[in-house]
Amino acid sequence: MTHIAVIAGSTRAGSFNRALARLAAARLAAHGAEVVEVDLATFDLPLYSAALEAEAFPPDALRLKQLFAAQDGLLFVSPEYNGSVPPLLKNAIDWASRPTGDEGLVALTAYRGKATAVMAASISPFGGLRALAHLRQILSTVQTLVIPEQVLVPNAHAAFDADGALKDALPASLVDMTAARLVAVAGALAG
Ligand SMILES: Cc1cc2nc3c(=O)[nH]c(=O)nc-3n(C[C@H](O)[C@H](O)[C@H](O)COP(=O)(O)O)c2cc1C
Repeated sequence: MTHIAVIAGSTRAGSFNRALARLAAARLAAHGAEVVEVDLATFDLPLYSAALEAEAFPPDALRLKQLFAAQDGLLFVSPEYNGSVPPLLKNAIDWASRPTGDEGLVALTAYRGKATAVMAASISPFGGLRALAHLRQILSTVQTLVIPEQVLVPNAHAAFDADGALKDALPASLVDMTAARLVAVAGALAG
């Protein structure tokens, strides 16, 4: 069984990215993955600081890192803030990238060897494209293989129907295509 975590980069009630994450989680499961949906609101993650880390590694940062480490693949569904990744998500990615215990500086146990994918929903007509470009770079830096498929949902305030489904066939089919590829690549990398 291929294990995949879905991480939404917004904790806002009514978040469009959480809605997109829910749809993606269902398509990942339909393609055979064991899916865990990560709600970052349930993790008490202080803003990363080396001083804080030197004092004591935050327990929830370790919990998030261990959750990531237990997966074969990770799907990030992120808003765009001022052309980039929101601090909520960047902070979570940064904490989970840190070595713990006897690990070397770049052990990257939460990330190395895993497949990742990215999606965005945005109220703008550009769909969060700039955030996804930055997110791809970050996920490559932590040594994951970011699959080429991705999903942009522009005009997100008008994109979902009352049941939370995407109204347009194109983004809906891209969610399915991206989910299928992530399950396949994550499974292949896990061997
Ligand atoms: C600080 C801030 C900066 C934003 N910058 C952008 C932006 O650069 N591009 C964009 O498309 N939307 C931007 N937005 C609007 C978001 O697309 C919108 O708030 C969206 O609903 C956030 O995702 P969510 O619904 O999942 O919380 C910004 C929102 C905030 C709060």
